Amino acid sequence: MRAFNLNGVARSVLAALLLLLSTTHVYAAEGDVDHEFELTIDDTIIDLVGDMTYHTFAFNGQVPGPLIHVKEGERIRVNVTNFTTLTHTIHWHGMIQRGSWQSDGVPDKTQKPIKPGDTFTYEFVAEPSGTHWYHCHVNVNEHVAIRGMWGAFIVEPKEPTEIEQKVTKDYVLMLSSWASKWAHSPGEGGVPGDVFDYFTINGKAFPESQAIRVEEGDVVRLRLIGAGEEVHSVHIHGHVFDIAFKDGHALPHPIKADTVLMGPGERYDLILYADNPGRWMIHDHVDTHTMNADRPDGGIMTVIEYREIDHDDEYYHWGHKEFQADFYFEEALQKPHGMHETSIHRGEPAL
Ligand code: CU
Repeated sequence: MRAFNLNGVARSVLAALLLLLSTTHVYAAEGDVDHEFELTIDDTIIDLVGDMTYHTFAFNGQVPGPLIHVKEGERIRVNVTNFTTLTHTIHWHGMIQRGSWQSDGVPDKTQKPIKPGDTFTYEFVAEPSGTHWYHCHVNVNEHVAIRGMWGAFIVEPKEPTEIEQKVTKDYVLMLSSWASKWAHSPGEGGVPGDVFDYFTINGKAFPESQAIRVEEGDVVRLRLIGAGEEVHSVHIHGHVFDIAFKDGHALPHPIKADTVLMGPGERYDLILYADNPGRWMIHDHVDTHTMNADRPDGGIMTVIEYREIDHDDEYYHWGHKEFQADFYFEEALQKPHGMHETSIHRGEPAL
């Protein structure tokens, strides 16, 4: 298609018309935004499982970082303050950054890295819609792979697809791996040859992850995010799901599957119809990812628990587990749009 060649007057008239027709805000530089968020980066100790603790550079002291949940087309400003002793940035993975490439968060390419004690402001429009994420872009081999510098960035579409309008339960699962060798050496590690020996969903390894609670008839959306260094082959028992979104984008023809292979950085949204009451495993089929170091029955595993079933069998791992909601951001996702901290993911300040 040929580009329109408007003269100056016509262009001004068009601009004025667009301004009048616009139902959203009109932004001047440094002007209004729909959401303004404050993120800090803090040296934080988290607990992966048992006594396996890990030194992270956590956003607002939690891993994953706070959930950011906004609407497509909204203008976002994020002020990021670095309280650690190393430099960082934030890349908004999935955001197209049209006209705002300086907010893409790549050190020495689109900005100077944020020094200790400094604040940097990102400003951009939340587009396209879908399951996205944010992560540091300095020394990603360490900061993203093993220091927990990531969080979910969910952009609700202006026009939801038919299938997503039917969703009754919405969960975020960020998968990652950890090398115990570097657990308490911030500034080191994340190098070729590392042995990854702990594997987590939302920063916790089984059995310290949480059940996914559903009831018959639910339409469950599982937003998988590959936040770490390894590939994950996510298998769900007892169901056939639809792989409905790839990297946030609705697939024209969803793929029926019971296993999905996910690489670092990728997102897959699975739609699962809860039509088979019972107790069903979700686990990484890269089998060593279901271990906590040399102990099996750990890592990336959880259980879909149907409300219709009693879960107190004496043989059941989680028969008497205290359930804590929001592990999969299930409550945070129901709150009004904004940024939501989730206390269940919070660590302890490193001294
Ligand atoms: Cu960093």
